Amino acid sequence: MNLRQPFSPSPSQAKPKAGASSYAEADGRPDDSTFDLAGWRQDFPILNRQVHGSPLIYLDSAATSQKPLAVVDRLQQYYLQTNANVHRGAHTLSEEATFAYEVARDRVQAFLNARQREEIIFVRGTTEAINLVAQSYARPRIKPGDEILLTAMEHHSNIVPWQILCQQTGAQLRVVPINDAGEIEWQAFTALLTPHCRLLAVTQVSNALGTVNPVAEMITLAHDAGVVVLVDGAQAIPHLQVDVQALDADFYAFSGHKVYGPTGIGVLYGKRALLEEMDPYQGGGDMISRVSFEKTDYNVLPYRFEAGTPHIAGAIGLATALDYIAGIGLNRIALHERALLDYGTQALAMIEGLRLIGTAQNKVGILSFVMAEAHAHDIGTILDQQGIAIRAGHHCAMPLMERFGVAATARASLALYNSRTDIDALVAGLHEVQRLFH
Ligand code: ALA
Repeated sequence: MNLRQPFSPSPSQAKPKAGASSYAEADGRPDDSTFDLAGWRQDFPILNRQVHGSPLIYLDSAATSQKPLAVVDRLQQYYLQTNANVHRGAHTLSEEATFAYEVARDRVQAFLNARQREEIIFVRGTTEAINLVAQSYARPRIKPGDEILLTAMEHHSNIVPWQILCQQTGAQLRVVPINDAGEIEWQAFTALLTPHCRLLAVTQVSNALGTVNPVAEMITLAHDAGVVVLVDGAQAIPHLQVDVQALDADFYAFSGHKVYGPTGIGVLYGKRALLEEMDPYQGGGDMISRVSFEKTDYNVLPYRFEAGTPHIAGAIGLATALDYIAGIGLNRIALHERALLDYGTQALAMIEGLRLIGTAQNKVGILSFVMAEAHAHDIGTILDQQGIAIRAGHHCAMPLMERFGVAATARASLALYNSRTDIDALVAGLHEVQRLFH
């Protein structure tokens, strides 16, 4: 199959639907014909399926991205040709599996521009990575009266592990407020970097708003105040070039499934000097160098934090996903998604009674909104009947919903395979919502 055929848009793909052209300007920015979008879409066979008799329009990639054939093929190849346990067997399959797993680590190291491969720990996902840092790094170091600084836009996975830590240690949570656009309130942030503050845990991109936080600047100020920083990169990694050395992040966490890779695999990056000082979060096989009933000596990095049989296929599939997006180019993906976000923002702004939640200057492709009469879950159900997949709910960010005075939002989230046609379908679907609720 030729996955790189030139894209020749049909008239309906090239232009917004009749009556909607006022939000589509011939402004020279990328549109569906600028890149090889048709080729990209062919890499994702799931996009060819129908849902309730309509072509699938997948606008829920912030929940999980679809997987390209390259990743699915690699998983199949691994399980059919190589499958064995790693770091254990003397036989050929085990050596091959170990090699592939460790090459995957090198791939992640290069992708993040980490200094050393020992700084890349494979975990189940962002959630496990954050819990690991809370328990292995923070718990032995945090004392009563210390403060953990979060922002008002954190996902529950970057709130609850710190609440548990606070219960265990007597530390307290502090929260950086955000403005009505969904941006960090800078003065409040700097004021919260007090001598009590020990750790800042901040998302690079908000899953519910799309806001891109200025984490590099935040890390600089935090370090000036002696504060260690963990960055939740779950929503950033599919959209932004991340260089952990340039950011100077102490810890950086992300999940494979949001970046076109498998579920159940993720990465914790940590600076070696910090990881070396940390005891393991979980005990088990592979994380030891010697065990007796009296005493256990832990393994070297990174294995010390990878107890038990890891998700070998997941790590290999993740590396393939990173190769896949590198093959397209993150810059091109970002340009495409930015243009689509602008197109979608203008289109939704024209829908009466619709309020966008999250209007930061610096955003990735997330369109979160509420409508005057329809509940977010009703919007989700009506759109699903038309084959359009969005997420409706609190997006695992209940404190953020409270900040905006809503119980839930409907959220359309974009990925490299989305098109203006998808946005047009969303707009048509929302007009149907309006018709049903009027
Ligand atoms: N954190 C994922 C989301 O935002 C599940 O939908």
